Amino acid sequence: MQTQLNKILEEAKAQLEKAVNIEETEDIRVKLLGKKGKLTEILRGMGSLSPEERKVTGQMANKVRGEIERLLEDKFEEVKAAAREAKFKLEKIDVTEPGREVKLGVKHPITITIEEVSRVFMNMGFSIVEGPEVETVFYNFDALNAGPNHPSRDMTDTFYITESTLLRSQTSPVQARTLRKQDPPIKVISPGRCFRCDTPDATHSPMFHQIEGLLVDEGITMADLKGTLDRFAKELFGTGTRTKFRPHHFPFTEPSAEMDVSCFKCGGKGCRVCKGSGWIEILGCGMVHPHVLEVGGLDTEKYTGFAFGMGVERAAMLKYGVDDIRLFYENDMRFIDQFK
Ligand code: DAH
Repeated sequence: MQTQLNKILEEAKAQLEKAVNIEETEDIRVKLLGKKGKLTEILRGMGSLSPEERKVTGQMANKVRGEIERLLEDKFEEVKAAAREAKFKLEKIDVTEPGREVKLGVKHPITITIEEVSRVFMNMGFSIVEGPEVETVFYNFDALNAGPNHPSRDMTDTFYITESTLLRSQTSPVQARTLRKQDPPIKVISPGRCFRCDTPDATHSPMFHQIEGLLVDEGITMADLKGTLDRFAKELFGTGTRTKFRPHHFPFTEPSAEMDVSCFKCGGKGCRVCKGSGWIEILGCGMVHPHVLEVGGLDTEKYTGFAFGMGVERAAMLKYGVDDIRLFYENDMRFIDQFK
C-alpha cells in the first residue's frame, strides 16, 4: 500500500507538470481527491489493515495527501494567473493607434441665412411663428385678397392637393393665420418652405424658402415699414447699405413696394452681382390691405400694419455668390462645407 501511495504521488507530480489550464488541473484533483478519487479509495481501504500497519500507512497517506493538496494549490495559482494574463492580452488597447476621425456635419447655407435674418428681426422685437406647408386655398389666396381670377391660382403655378388644399406657394398665409390668432400688437416673422410648379433651372426650384414679416398695431405707417426694413438691411449687409423703395403690386398690400439695397459687393458703383445697376432687389413689402385685416377680424379704423416677404435662396445666392439655386439641394458636402 505504501508503494501504491508513492506511485500516486509520483503520478500526480507528473500529471500536474503537464497541466496547462484550470480545467485540466481540476480534472486531476477530482481523480485523486474526489469522492471516487484514487487517494480517497486508499484512505477508505485502510480499515482492513492491522492497527500497526494502519498507523504507519495512515501517517504516510496523510503526508501524501498534504503534498498533493499543496501541489494542486500551487498549480491552480499558476494556471489562474496564466488565464488572467491571456485575458488581459486579448483586451489590450493600443493607445498609440491613430483615432478614427468623426466627420461633423455643418449648417446648410439656407439655414444659416434664415438664422441670420431671424436674429436681426428678433433683435428688433419680432418673434417667430410657423404655419403649415400643406395649406388651404383660403389662407394661401382668399384671405390674402388674391381674387378668384388671380394668375397665381393657376394649376400651372401652384401644386393643388385637392380643390381646397395645396402646397403653400408663399409664406404669406402665415400672416392671415396670425391675424386671426393674435391680437395686436402683432410683430412676427415666419420662415418656411414654399412650393411652386417651376421647372428647375439656375434660378428656379419647385421648393424654396421665404421669410414673411408682419407688424400690426395702432398708428403704423409706411414710415415704420421703411424704418424697420432699412434697419434690417443695414444690420444684414453692413451699416453703409442704402435702401430704395420702388412701387409694386401685391394683392395683400396697398400700397406695395419692392425694396432694393445698394450693392454690397461694389457699394453701388455697378458690378457683376448688381448687373451694373448698383442696386439689388431684396424683398416685397407694403401696408397690409384693409381686406386682409378685416378677414383677420381686426378693426381697420383702429389698426394698420405692414408686411414683407423675401426669398431666402435669392438672398443666400447674392450673399455667397452662388450662381445656381440647384446647388442648395444636391447635398454635395464639397459645396455645403464651404459655408462653415
Ligand atoms: N408673398 C410674396 C411673394 O411670394 C412676397 C411678399 C410681398 C410678402 C409683399 C409680403 C408682402 O408679405 O407684403 O412674392
